[in-house]
Amino acid sequence: MATENRKILQVLEGKTLSPPPIWLMRQAGRYLPEYRQTRAEAGSFLDLCYSPDHAVEVTLQPIRRYGFDAAILFSDILVIPDALNRSVRFEEGRGPLMEPIDVDGIYALKGDTIGSHLSPVIETVSRLRVALPAETTLLGFCGAPWTVATYMIAGHGTPDQAPARLFAYRNPEAFDHLLAFLADVSAEYLIAQIDAGADAVQIFDSWAGVLGEAEFERFAVKPVRRMIDAVRSQRPSAKIIAFAKGAGILLKHYRQAVDADAIGLDWSVPLSFARDLQKDGPVQGNLDPMRVVAGGRALDDGIDAILQTLGQGPLIFNLGHGITPQANPDHVTALVNRVRGHS
Ligand code: CP3
Repeated sequence: MATENRKILQVLEGKTLSPPPIWLMRQAGRYLPEYRQTRAEAGSFLDLCYSPDHAVEVTLQPIRRYGFDAAILFSDILVIPDALNRSVRFEEGRGPLMEPIDVDGIYALKGDTIGSHLSPVIETVSRLRVALPAETTLLGFCGAPWTVATYMIAGHGTPDQAPARLFAYRNPEAFDHLLAFLADVSAEYLIAQIDAGADAVQIFDSWAGVLGEAEFERFAVKPVRRMIDAVRSQRPSAKIIAFAKGAGILLKHYRQAVDADAIGLDWSVPLSFARDLQKDGPVQGNLDPMRVVAGGRALDDGIDAILQTLGQGPLIFNLGHGITPQANPDHVTALVNRVRGHS
């Protein structure tokens, strides 16, 4: 079967590959001139996400340029609140915006519009599987309930998610309801992506790091476990990567607690601790995206440290968070060459 040649799937099964396979979070994005061009043609950012023609094109752009081992569906974690009629908009320079949800709004949420609203995204997945080289792993994704909820409650991005943390203390039942609801609809969305051809899926909990220990358990571990259990109950062989940014030492417990095949590591995770985490299973990460902006020695040293510490175990090479718009595309070429031992 063609899937046997997909290196990222081999690592997710626990194999060690040398060199390790590589993809980058946000690999399709504003640092690429061809992305900026398609983005301008598409109109708004969400128009890009909901246009299979354009979304397929931007997903393939970094594969053509760099030959990454995985393509990640081009979409956004906030298509879920958008599909729940929270009407998300993206404003130039301001990031995502939506009407903040309240307790009544939470209990009024219904999932019945999601399937039709997100059908263009699922169509993008099916078309991608056909368009991609057979050896390229196709990744689907969604946001973790906590991270999606932070935007739904604040109505915009914040530096520390204080609005969502405060809301959760004041309205614990409504907040638990929101997280469980998001877990259930997101599980259905991931299953649809898998059925359309996604080989594996990643769950992004980009704001896990602002939570205290007890809240991490309630808001990050429990809903993600619920989501993964729901996916596996229907698709037992689903491969799942969980990325809890900023979770620090709580990552030791996280993989087993959520039952993920691999865990993503941000760049603040010390490599010695990462090595320890790798004894329990595959890890993905964790180069500081600023090293890709800097290039040169900073880039080379960062890559070498990861390969030396984690290269002898199951590793998917990646950044510790998304690549930024300032990154130089030539630095990404240098990164891929060095990881693959061509320099
Ligand atoms: O990795 C990929 O290449 C797939 C595409 C992808 C995007 N967003 C495209 C995007 C993925 C996986 C995401 C996930 C996402 N979106 C997360 C979790 C991961 C993370 O980065 O923390 C979060 C928190 C969001 C929400 C979001 N989307 C924000 C806060 C913003 C604005 C900030 C920014 O970078 O502009 C977005 C917009 C967004 N999502 C862009 C892209 C390429 C830029 C929009 C543009 O082109 O104008």
